[in-house]
Amino acid sequence: MTTQDNPDTTLDPEDWDTFRKRAHAMLDHAIDKMEGAREGRVWTPMPDALKARLQEPLPPTGAPGMRVDEAIRSLMPYGPGNTHPRFFGWVHGSGTPSDMIAEIAAAAMNVNAGGRDQVALYVERQLVQWVRQLFGFPETASGLTVSGTSMATILALKAARDVALDFRSREQGVSGSQLVAYASAETHACVARAFDMLGLGSDALRRVPTDDALRMSTDALETAIGEDRAAGRQPFALVGTAGTVNTGAIDPLNALADIATEHGLWFHIDAAFGASGMLSPVLRPRFSGLERAHSVAFDFHKWMHVNYDAGFVLVRDEEAHRRAFSMRPDYLQHNERGLAAGFPWAVDYGPELSRGFRALKVWAHLMEHGPEKIGASVTRNVEQVRYLAERVDEAQELERLAPVETSICCFRHTAWEGASGAEIDRLNDEIVVRLQEEGIAAPSTTRIGGKLAIRVNITNHRTQLSDVDMLLEEIRRCGRDLSRGNQR
Ligand SMILES: Cc1ncc(COP(=O)(O)O)c(C=O)c1O
Repeated sequence: MTTQDNPDTTLDPEDWDTFRKRAHAMLDHAIDKMEGAREGRVWTPMPDALKARLQEPLPPTGAPGMRVDEAIRSLMPYGPGNTHPRFFGWVHGSGTPSDMIAEIAAAAMNVNAGGRDQVALYVERQLVQWVRQLFGFPETASGLTVSGTSMATILALKAARDVALDFRSREQGVSGSQLVAYASAETHACVARAFDMLGLGSDALRRVPTDDALRMSTDALETAIGEDRAAGRQPFALVGTAGTVNTGAIDPLNALADIATEHGLWFHIDAAFGASGMLSPVLRPRFSGLERAHSVAFDFHKWMHVNYDAGFVLVRDEEAHRRAFSMRPDYLQHNERGLAAGFPWAVDYGPELSRGFRALKVWAHLMEHGPEKIGASVTRNVEQVRYLAERVDEAQELERLAPVETSICCFRHTAWEGASGAEIDRLNDEIVVRLQEEGIAAPSTTRIGGKLAIRVNITNHRTQLSDVDMLLEEIRRCGRDLSRGNQR
């Protein structure tokens, strides 16, 4: 028998009714999980047996679908816990049940959204149009849905690099270039990594010192630009951050835009989670200047709560964006009619030719929840973080380590009298690990001025003030328990 005679090579279900039941059961399970997102533990460590199972080799023959579904269900309790209202670590969004619906539709369509005259491109173009409107960008600006801000940053800075080198870099590379750029010392590591990946090297990114509020110092920036110019180097870009990962600080965007204009620099803004502040009447004024950027990188999956993953790059100069990426070999030529029509395609704005219909869930999410409600949820989080900061300031055993500007409050427990710096650091680290391991809450840590901080980020539409109160109470309890017996 040849494979042509074997009807079993199709991967479609043998029995669609059975498949329908199977899919409905999984959908119910998924809805149950989302409905129960406020309950139970925040993070649950994976059992050893599961870790062992996840090291088994792939069997040559497949398993019955029901068994695979059971295997999938057995994984579902062990994510990081960011759908829970007391997930306060790093900057994670909390997701929404409605996005599951768009994900199902996208899976059923199984489109390749890299190009061709098909609906996915029109949906993504409408999304680009909505983003321009939300951020006050001109009608001519371009954009692309990507996996996250790390990727969006690479794309934006690639366009900036190619503009600076008159696009010769696309064929000739960057060797011998003297390109340098500027970002604050608080800038996310993905910016330096972008420089590394773009062949410029992370040393080409100058880390400009910050002021007391951990925003980029414009005086220090001017000095750095002057020094580089005097040394014969070519400043080409300035990266501002609207919501730093450590403390949520917003660089002085208008002042940076002025300096970029004066020095002919491409002004890029990392607004990974901060961009959502544009939807909040309380925060929006703080983002003045964002609309002046050449490019903005941000995430829908953080403070806008689109389910992972969904980032976006917005570029003011569509032509520069397209010239930095477009490459159309014979088999990808566009046509006036037929499936190869509909220029430009997504592949003209980024490196991916094959890409999923990520834009659908973002489009549906914005349509269903609307910018006003998402903005109200952002405002609610800002109030919760300010409430937390006030409680920290009132508490004798707690010390705030940074100003609160957006969604993050950094503070520490002061331990016992006479505790050394290293002992205080260890105590705070242990408090955070205990809260995570006990499943009570999941803050994370960072260092502010060399001191280990408990870092609480609230970008969570499920969080309530009672969750913040519980976090504080538990931090105090752990602090007391760990300090006991250490008084000198
Ligand atoms: C300020 C900032 N920039 C960039 C990133 C990277 O974003 P992503 O994880 O979506 O790649 C983050 C992530 O938390 C961030 O907070």
